[in-house]
Amino acid sequence: MIAEQKSSAIAEESPGVFFDLERYPIDKPNDPVRANLVKSCRQQLAETGCARLPAFINSEALVAMTGEVVERLSQVDKTADWQNPYLSEDDETLPDEHPVRQFHYRKNAFLCRDRFAEGDWVDRLFSRMELLNFVRDCLGLKQLYHYADPMSGYLINIQEGGETFPWHFDTNEFTISLMLQQSTGGGVFEYAPAIRNAESENYDAVAAVMEGGEKDVIALPLNPGDLQIFKGRYALHRVTPVEGQRSRYMAIFGYTESPNVISKASRKLKLFGRCLDSHLEAETLEVTRLDNLRD
Ligand SMILES: [Fe+2]
Repeated sequence: MIAEQKSSAIAEESPGVFFDLERYPIDKPNDPVRANLVKSCRQQLAETGCARLPAFINSEALVAMTGEVVERLSQVDKTADWQNPYLSEDDETLPDEHPVRQFHYRKNAFLCRDRFAEGDWVDRLFSRMELLNFVRDCLGLKQLYHYADPMSGYLINIQEGGETFPWHFDTNEFTISLMLQQSTGGGVFEYAPAIRNAESENYDAVAAVMEGGEKDVIALPLNPGDLQIFKGRYALHRVTPVEGQRSRYMAIFGYTESPNVISKASRKLKLFGRCLDSHLEAETLEVTRLDNLRD
């Protein structure tokens, strides 16, 4: 199929191929069910920083996407590193027990966007405008764009037995995740909602959670097909170590409040061990933050 025919076939594809439109009529902007879903998500996000939409994706689409991941397992980018919750350098001027000085081992793998092609299931789902518009409304934003990064606009996080993603804060305001496959055991998403805010790092509470304090920590049950909207800049969060034969596959869809956002080379190299020319160009651009948090 030539490229133009392929693009128009994708544009004409029914959203029902991907979404359970009975339960989630995200394609109908004026549907009261959609309005209630948006309201419920906004409420969950305001209360805990996390909204879960169970069985959001059809099982046929889920099977197809999981198959695409399995076919590409030889192309994953694997990295391992010691990281603190701020993904920052150590600061020897601080006491030993300070959270900035708590480094945990992260080892996992990503199947990046550039391993997929236009027309693949994962790529088509990411491109759906109903999904972007629904996420925009749930987040209460006026504008939202597809993250333009050629490697991590969307990607699949793959965690095998023994692998973990330790406690951290995100540098981005929100993350949209779709569970494709849950691990045999472990692999539980845990988070401490609103443990910090734009004015305060609240280091004592962060230290308490990292030391194993379960107070204020929520474990979110996720099943294949569940969509999660998460605000991870203020919520400390982690994925507990994966156990057993079956790996955990999580698709992460990137959206940005400004158009044409591409991340810097240094960040790509740290997470994936490689980058593209467009990331080297982005390295020279200044990025400013609206808060004074450590990152
Ligand atoms: Fe995160």
